[in-house]
Amino acid sequence: MTNHKFHILEQSDADHAGVEHLLDTAFGIDRRTKTSYRLREGEKPLPGLSFIARDDENHLIGTISFWQIHIGEMGPDAILLGPLAVMSGRQNNGLGQALMAHGIKVAKKTGHQLVVLVGDAPYYARIGFKQIPTGQVIMPGPNEPERLLYLELKPGVIETSTGLIRSPSRYRTAPFRNNHGSK
Ligand SMILES: CC(C)(COP(=O)(O)OP(=O)(O)OC[C@H]1O[C@@H](n2cnc3c(N)ncnc32)[C@H](O)[C@@H]1OP(=O)(O)O)[C@@H](O)C(=O)NCCC(=O)NCCS
Repeated sequence: MTNHKFHILEQSDADHAGVEHLLDTAFGIDRRTKTSYRLREGEKPLPGLSFIARDDENHLIGTISFWQIHIGEMGPDAILLGPLAVMSGRQNNGLGQALMAHGIKVAKKTGHQLVVLVGDAPYYARIGFKQIPTGQVIMPGPNEPERLLYLELKPGVIETSTGLIRSPSRYRTAPFRNNHGSK
């Protein structure tokens, strides 16, 4: 995807250091203590679902990734969006929304059904994210339910998404338990 101010490309290994620097600048170096980071710990982003943006001078100015997650035991395919960051000085130019729109288009094309994220609802509502009803889906660790948002790529999938969010490795190794008595 290209416009006259930025180009969106699939992230390559060579972009890793630049992306980490951009994320440290956008979120601070304590970003790894956040709940969504802990959920991604030890995991890799989904192949083909990490993107960067470069300007006409080839500077790295934006990044977005998507990660596999599991909701409860029997939930539909779900992916976690984040981190999303746009370099300061290049913000408010449509890039954040363009990165999301591009990533979500690719995710839908590759068969994913539900996107979840932790973020500011007023911003993500611009591209259709809504708050998950409080208590329906549980993020591990400290979090604010009003920041837990979803976007359906397949209509109706939120109805069957109930329970604790887990990373693929925790899903594989831990027996399913929830404290709502449904299973
Ligand atoms: C949040 C972020 C990704 C937005 O990217 P961007 O390219 O600047 O955003 P866009 O150009 O797509 O959209 C800009 C619009 O969204 C609004 N907006 C930006 N961040 C917002 C937020 N956190 N909450 C509500 N609105 C927000 C802007 O005010 C602007 O509004 P306008 O169109 O009415 O002027 C970018 O500001 C950023 O990297 N911030 C630091 C990291 C971060 O906080 N990321 C996650 C956010 S939860």
